[in-house]
Amino acid sequence: MKASVTRLLALLFILSPGLLAGATESAPRERLRLDFGWKYHLGNEWGSAQNLAKAGSGYGPAGVGFSDASWRSVDLPHDWAIELPFDRKADTAHGFRAVGPGFPENSIGWYRRTFPLPKSDSGRRIWLELDGVYRDSTVFVNGWAVGRHESGYSGARYDITDVVECGGDNVVAVRVDASQNEGWFYEGAGIYRHVWLVKTDLLALAPDGVFVSSSFQGTGAEGAATVHLQSTLTNALKQTAQAAVVWEILAPDGKKVATAQKDAQVGAAGVMVVEQTAQVTTPELWSPESPRLYKLVTTIISAGKTVDRQETEFGIRTFAFDAEKGFILNGRPYVIKGTCNHQDHAGVGSALPDGLQYFRIAKLKEMGSNAYRSSHNPPTTELLEACDHLGMIVMDENRLVGSDAQHLGLLRELILRDRNHASVAIWSLGNEEFGVQRSESGGRALATMQDLVKHLDPTRPVTVNADVGNEFTGFSPVIEVRGWSYHIGKDNMDAYHAVHPTQPNVGSEQGSTTTTRGIYADDPEKGYVMAYDEGAQPWSNTAKQWWSFFAPRPWLSGGFIWTGFDYRGEPTPYVWPCISSHFGIFDTCGFPKDLFWYYQAWWTDRPVLHLMPHWNWAGREGQEIDVRAFSNCDEVELFLNGKSLGRQAMPRYMELKWKVAYAPGTLAAKGFTGGKLVVESKVETTAAAAAVQLVPDRSSLRADGEDVSVITVAVADDQGRVVPVAGNKVSFALTGPGRIIGVGNGDPSCHEPDVYFSLPPVRSLPISGWRWQKVASIYAEKLPEIAADFDDHGWSATEVDTAKGSLTLHQQAFYRVHFNATPEILAADGLEIWFGKIEGDARVYLNGEKLGAGSDPRSASVYNPKGRMHPGENVLTVAVANWGGEIAGLSQGAQLRLISAPPPVTWTRSVFNGLAQVIVQAGKQAGKLRLTAQAEGLKPVTVEIDAKATTPRPAVE
Ligand code: GAL
Repeated sequence: MKASVTRLLALLFILSPGLLAGATESAPRERLRLDFGWKYHLGNEWGSAQNLAKAGSGYGPAGVGFSDASWRSVDLPHDWAIELPFDRKADTAHGFRAVGPGFPENSIGWYRRTFPLPKSDSGRRIWLELDGVYRDSTVFVNGWAVGRHESGYSGARYDITDVVECGGDNVVAVRVDASQNEGWFYEGAGIYRHVWLVKTDLLALAPDGVFVSSSFQGTGAEGAATVHLQSTLTNALKQTAQAAVVWEILAPDGKKVATAQKDAQVGAAGVMVVEQTAQVTTPELWSPESPRLYKLVTTIISAGKTVDRQETEFGIRTFAFDAEKGFILNGRPYVIKGTCNHQDHAGVGSALPDGLQYFRIAKLKEMGSNAYRSSHNPPTTELLEACDHLGMIVMDENRLVGSDAQHLGLLRELILRDRNHASVAIWSLGNEEFGVQRSESGGRALATMQDLVKHLDPTRPVTVNADVGNEFTGFSPVIEVRGWSYHIGKDNMDAYHAVHPTQPNVGSEQGSTTTTRGIYADDPEKGYVMAYDEGAQPWSNTAKQWWSFFAPRPWLSGGFIWTGFDYRGEPTPYVWPCISSHFGIFDTCGFPKDLFWYYQAWWTDRPVLHLMPHWNWAGREGQEIDVRAFSNCDEVELFLNGKSLGRQAMPRYMELKWKVAYAPGTLAAKGFTGGKLVVESKVETTAAAAAVQLVPDRSSLRADGEDVSVITVAVADDQGRVVPVAGNKVSFALTGPGRIIGVGNGDPSCHEPDVYFSLPPVRSLPISGWRWQKVASIYAEKLPEIAADFDDHGWSATEVDTAKGSLTLHQQAFYRVHFNATPEILAADGLEIWFGKIEGDARVYLNGEKLGAGSDPRSASVYNPKGRMHPGENVLTVAVANWGGEIAGLSQGAQLRLISAPPPVTWTRSVFNGLAQVIVQAGKQAGKLRLTAQAEGLKPVTVEIDAKATTPRPAVE
């Protein structure tokens, strides 16, 4: 973390007024969200689209002329796996959705979108960025295959400058193949992170070309901070460019606190790294308790003009791991109270709107957690932004260990993408690599990876989550910070630390305690585990076991619970019908299970007292109930219906237990610290379910098409108390400018849909009455045969709904048909001209205008006539040449397809132990959203959410 000598010697420039004037011009960089208005189709009908034999020829949906009018409209992010049914033949670890190995019909999906580019964009560099697609993706722009990307967790960035049309429409098509898994947990399917269109000058900051870090003199975080500034410039001009890089640092209150500048000369088609330092004299340090963020504004000025400007948020703070003191934040020991998490949430799968990231991080903080491990893959950028802003330390994890070019490339991308985030405190190179974590080759590969990380980011420590005990082979001798996956105990951790006293440690994965919210007896048939702190697996521990071991050992640095939230898949200790995990402290919706209060008790300073179980045990009157309390008080006294059942001292990091003969009423507890009553708690026997409640986490949203409100659905008795055993089915109706995007209830065995949608209905009208004429060539410059008014009466009639075409080898022909476009046809929401099969080299024309070239010999060819069809008679012409097939031409029918708007759907979800969740997303119009929930026999409820006008983030319209 010390500044390098060169950095310290670098000059700090005070800006000249001339340069400042330049810095206030508007910058030409645009970063536009390309999330809205996509078309999506599930299925692999267009196998030929993967035929990349000729550049720019894009078959099927990859082609420009293809019609996607009958596809579903979706906005990104989108995860199609949650739309699929559960199937017990599907993969257990992935949560039994009918996708992936064994489900080829559900594992290929297509996304398409048309986007305009103004003429003024010519001469700029245009990039297409996909932050995350699960999994293998092939991206086509205007029929050009611009790239393939295999990883489901790293982004793909394509320079599409050469293939776009400025001053016209462009078509992007993405083929997504989720046939193969990457991990052993739910992974989703589709474009589940944001997509961006980025436009820059030819001389600009390179992608990920800003790196900002800070250091202090001495070991702590005292005094002035030196801010290290690094900008990578890329010059796509044909000549050397002179540039000035200007850095301005804005404090959390927005005031400018430091500036720096450096001149650079970037060679033609070159890349250059420019470095400088600046001083922030009285920095406001970032920490989870005080997440103060600075902003770096990097401006590139060339020939007196601002050619680029980018804003980068960062934090000034220091992180270190000490072998004795453990984790050190800003010079002081700081206990990591972390959770590991996968990325899915109820209702939306892995496609989380940004607001949900903030919702989840806020929940974890409420528990007293200060750290998040993005197991076992690079997280979504917006998750890191939530951690930066709300204050949550991040262990940022690479997907797979490997030192080959591909794996190092993915690691490199992760570091470059994430190294400016205030929250990222440590890199994890991987997780439990059973096959190699003890081997010499494993050690060598890990060392190579660690070297790369240190080269790209010398400011942060590195670890790996290794599933080994007191062993010093493979990963252990190599890694900077020893990451412990389970293996608590004196024989492992203490013995290891005694022999390797200079190596820092962290509990990178601990716990794995299984519980189900609101369940107090194991039920293997239903797939529920009791919520008492008892569910440890052979490799794992209860909360009490691991935290009571870690808490008194500061050298372990604290640790990360497996997991913060339940996730789909890994239904340990059960299998079907259980479809999601039980490891979470929160369920998949973010409703706390009892263990939440165990951690809150020992991870916060607040007085905490929590009683379990609930007190609705009708039919068990007089029987003993296992009552427990989590608390950080010195003593707890329990009362049943006002009568004391005794006071007990609370052992540190433990729990209290009573056996209580059940009688309905109130089970209450008082917590005493230093002899004083500090907190009280109770559980009450409720009356029968009487009403539905809706409680939005936010009742005011930004009308930007993205913002979400997470609404708790509760079934309550006539006194408004949530009935902890209720399972009523609730249905929802939303009016106003917004939509429901998902529902959930945290039940690990619930097979009800997370999303409801309908497909656009398609009405097919056969196009018949074809005539055809063989010709010498369909390639002449002028083709009278395609004109609408061409006289084809003399041509022979032909059928196209045959099994095979009728053009033999080397024959060429025109096919023509006249059809009547009625007002009803023209009024359809969407139109498609559909051919069962076109074999050969083909072009399709409507009224003399080309609808598309190319055809798909293996599947239907679909063209978009919208805007080219007029009332009355229209003429469709297909020109086909057979260059290589035994037989070619038109076959298997031709149709005009009328597409209507998808019919409305009804959203429902049962509450699980009294609770469910609805996620509502604002539209782009301001207005009132009204969500009504009703269930049979219960009083319905309506809640109002205000979607307020806002300036949405720049997006492609
Ligand atoms: C660990 C693994 C996690 C999860 C967990 C369940 O070994 O790293 O991904 O599978 O076990 O206990």
